[in-house]
Amino acid sequence: MNALMGTETAVGSYHEGMPWNTVERVILNRRSVRSFRQEPLPDAMIRRILEAGRFAPSAGNMQPWRFIVVKNRALLAEMERDAVRIVKFFMFFLDYTRGSFLRRFIASINAKVMMRVLPNELHPAPFALMVQIAQGKTPVFHSAPTLLLLLEDRRGVSSPPTDIGICGQNMVIAAHSLGAGTCWIGLIKVLMYLPKWRKRFGVKFPYSLNVCIALGWPKPKADGPATREVQRVEWFDEAGLDPRIEEQGE
Ligand SMILES: Cc1cc2nc3c(=O)[nH]c(=O)nc-3n(C[C@H](O)[C@H](O)[C@H](O)COP(=O)(O)O)c2cc1C
Repeated sequence: MNALMGTETAVGSYHEGMPWNTVERVILNRRSVRSFRQEPLPDAMIRRILEAGRFAPSAGNMQPWRFIVVKNRALLAEMERDAVRIVKFFMFFLDYTRGSFLRRFIASINAKVMMRVLPNELHPAPFALMVQIAQGKTPVFHSAPTLLLLLEDRRGVSSPPTDIGICGQNMVIAAHSLGAGTCWIGLIKVLMYLPKWRKRFGVKFPYSLNVCIALGWPKPKADGPATREVQRVEWFDEAGLDPRIEEQGE
């Protein structure tokens, strides 16, 4: 990350030890934004961000996605209300961190069973977030004035969820490069438990709702270097047929 301190260099060139270029800086400095100004981004800017998604690579160039932009304030408020209601409903049965001994005991059995059924959704990180939402300590959509919903076409080649991730990250990076803020909202999926939202957004085969990106002007500016794990990378190079381990990062 030391190169972050240097002066910027042009995109499309490389020499050893050069400072991060503009694209690398946006990637390295992007942080999730969870507090937005109320006025939405101009529509032209949102279209430009969508364009970055539309140009994303995908397996077989299948482009297995559909985009939905939600800016209507009444609709956003209804989505927040319903998402909180659903999270509270789940946490009533699953939150083993509060209440009487008997309640915690029963909830811990429920949670163990559900964590096996939905291991990704009920991983400790989203579980902790859901506890906070159920306690009214954090909103689901962070009061963002715009939500970009990314629907996945399940007929895509190979791995449509991978394509959606690439497509969404293109939009996220484009948004931050323009001074906007974003936060991925995986938790939007809870809305799919209510038929009214599936109907409203036309979520039926071959489409499923994969994820959402909260979008707006950041309040205050959140971007800056993050801490990340040092990665032990295996290099199979001319040093031999056994991998050479290199620590990536500091
Ligand atoms: C697929 C995905 C789903 C996420 N879902 C949520 C979410 O529902 N709510 C939230 O506040 N953050 C969500 N995040 C944001 C992560 O918590 C965040 O990216 C991570 O903590 C790293 O922080 P950074 O983005 O500031 O570098 C999600 C991120 C990804 C990639």
